[in-house]
Amino acid sequence: VSLKPYNTFGIDAKARYWVEIQTEEQLKTLFQLTEFLTVPKLVLGGGSNLVFTRDFDGLAIKMAIQGIEVVREDESHVYIKAGAGVNWHQLVMHCVENGYAGIENLSLIPGTTGAAPMQNIGAYGVEIEQVFDQLEAVAIQTGETRVFTHAECRFSYRESVFKHEAKGQYIISSVTLRLNKQAVFHVEYGAIRETLAEMGISEGQLSIKAVSEAVIRIRQSKLPNPAEIGNAGSFFKNPEISKGQFEDLKTVHPMMPGYPTGDLTVKVPAGWLIEQCGWKGKQMGNAGVHSKQALVLVNLGGATGAEILHLAQNVQQSVEEKFGIRLNPEVNMV
Ligand code: EPU
Repeated sequence: VSLKPYNTFGIDAKARYWVEIQTEEQLKTLFQLTEFLTVPKLVLGGGSNLVFTRDFDGLAIKMAIQGIEVVREDESHVYIKAGAGVNWHQLVMHCVENGYAGIENLSLIPGTTGAAPMQNIGAYGVEIEQVFDQLEAVAIQTGETRVFTHAECRFSYRESVFKHEAKGQYIISSVTLRLNKQAVFHVEYGAIRETLAEMGISEGQLSIKAVSEAVIRIRQSKLPNPAEIGNAGSFFKNPEISKGQFEDLKTVHPMMPGYPTGDLTVKVPAGWLIEQCGWKGKQMGNAGVHSKQALVLVNLGGATGAEILHLAQNVQQSVEEKFGIRLNPEVNMV
């Protein structure tokens, strides 16, 4: 089976076996089939955060469990449970339309709801962990359902337990978010404030819908639409360096941006580092660095995973040589 339609990079890798899952019961049944016990498994959500570097000699499991429901409500919160296969942006739109606040800044992020907690998706000052209540996951070895609380997910910047200790052991089947009835707006991010101003929206006129629209405009102006140009969003994480190293670098590169993440650490935008190395808009084979956002690598047509990896390694090397900073991938390599 070609995995090309199932990864936003549009890489033409193949999987030996393929199954699409619509219900949690189907998932449990699958794990009772002894012939698949020892076969390597790969879980696919929207395929928007992975790079296939070769064919997959195992079972690809496309998660397509649907459904959005309010499971609980109290004076100030609404608890929304969504199936792992629900398109993330559709969930955001559902919440925006119903006045459930908390994920409007995460509008237009590609991918599925089930994949969202894996890397603790975040954008424009909000991460999913801020509204995360719990999730349900099925253990691959036993087929049993288990609940993961917020604490058990061990969230941090683009990280969760599912990329570490629990890696490859569970399949997320549903996610429950705790959304606010009374919106608390996160508009600290420069680009959001500017876009709201362009839209003619003042502080007093803020609404969930307006913030969502501002985010959609920003993303559409900077990030390539995966339906048109293959990509997986940010390819690297923004590196965190020590304050000392940041100050040393500042003496050589006075324009270098940085955001304190603690008393002793500073996060530096990887996009800036890559741009300074001259990579913005550059091409290597069929892979390229996006011309409007240097942190995004793109498939310019027919690129293989190896070509994208080759470009990524060259970018990494340039940044390391010029700044002494090692960029780590944000995407998952398969
Ligand atoms: N910048 C450049 N040149 C570039 C790109 C960025 O100089 O080509 C510098 C600028 O100083 C700019 C700063 O980087 O002000 C920040 O850029 P941007 O707002 O585009 O955000 P980012 O740090 O590049 C992160 C996330 C994005 C998220 C945005 C907005 C990571 C790895 N990426 O990107 O997430 O949408 O912030 O919050 O943290 C993703 O994870 O796939 C993703 C798209």
